[in-house]
Amino acid sequence: MNWGAIDRYAKSLIKEAGHKIRISFFSTIDVDSKAEANDLVTNIDREIERFFISRIKRDFPEHRIFGEEGFGDEIESLDGVIWMLDPIDGTMNFVHQKRNFAISLGIYADGIGMLGYIYDVMNDDFYHAFKDEGAYFNDERLPVLQETPLAEAVIGVNASWVAPNRRIENGPIADMVRHCRGTRSYGSAAIELAYVSSGRIDAYLSLRLSPWDIAGGMVIAQEVGAVTTNLKGEQPHLLGQDTFIVARPGLHDEILRNYIKLK
Ligand code: IPD
Ligand code: CA
Ligand code: CA
Ligand code: CA
Repeated sequence: MNWGAIDRYAKSLIKEAGHKIRISFFSTIDVDSKAEANDLVTNIDREIERFFISRIKRDFPEHRIFGEEGFGDEIESLDGVIWMLDPIDGTMNFVHQKRNFAISLGIYADGIGMLGYIYDVMNDDFYHAFKDEGAYFNDERLPVLQETPLAEAVIGVNASWVAPNRRIENGPIADMVRHCRGTRSYGSAAIELAYVSSGRIDAYLSLRLSPWDIAGGMVIAQEVGAVTTNLKGEQPHLLGQDTFIVARPGLHDEILRNYIKLK
């Protein structure tokens, strides 16, 4: 497999998709709800996913595509090469703010993340990584992350996970929030993974994410030494939803051990 060629191809495809998204603001955007009223999707999410799929199927017919909007393949195993795509991560931001959303793409071979991309479209900020060859922010190599204690850490967490919910009692996450330096919530899991990888926040966690939310970001995060697991401390499930945490080394352990390790 010529991963260098796939990398160049993926970068140019993502940039082209980003351009399509930016010009979409000149036309009318149709907004629908999916599973519930606040779970938004637009015609642009769908069009961008279809754009990726038509190109990938044309140029890499043997590869499979796992995309949020369901136009790709039915994926039941991680065998072979799979492009895990979120055409717009942060659709609520796309609709309400016209910024703070990203294209997220991870290319996996037999379950191993080889290439990862997060494109913050409106800021034109491009994060990418090549397994074992480092992670980059706008083509500048990102340094390996150092340890930070929770007391000095800024944690990405959605406020809805701090309120009591079915999955986890209010206590542990609220406790972690009380003991950290501060919290942030950006509304795009991919951007939050990019921010942990570039040292702008120290950890990000969620009680429910899908493979396409984290596939690209995990490759980037791992290249800078961040630890990525589910909240049981295991490899996140890449065929369906799971809990998720990415954090600096040391901090990952401190959060799971002292606060939220699920059984
Ligand atoms: C969502 C965003 C959001 C996260 C949700 C995701 P979408 O993705 O990443 O930050 O909290 O769990 O579903 O639907 O905008 O692609
Ligand atoms: Ca969505
Ligand atoms: Ca998403
Ligand atoms: Ca999406």
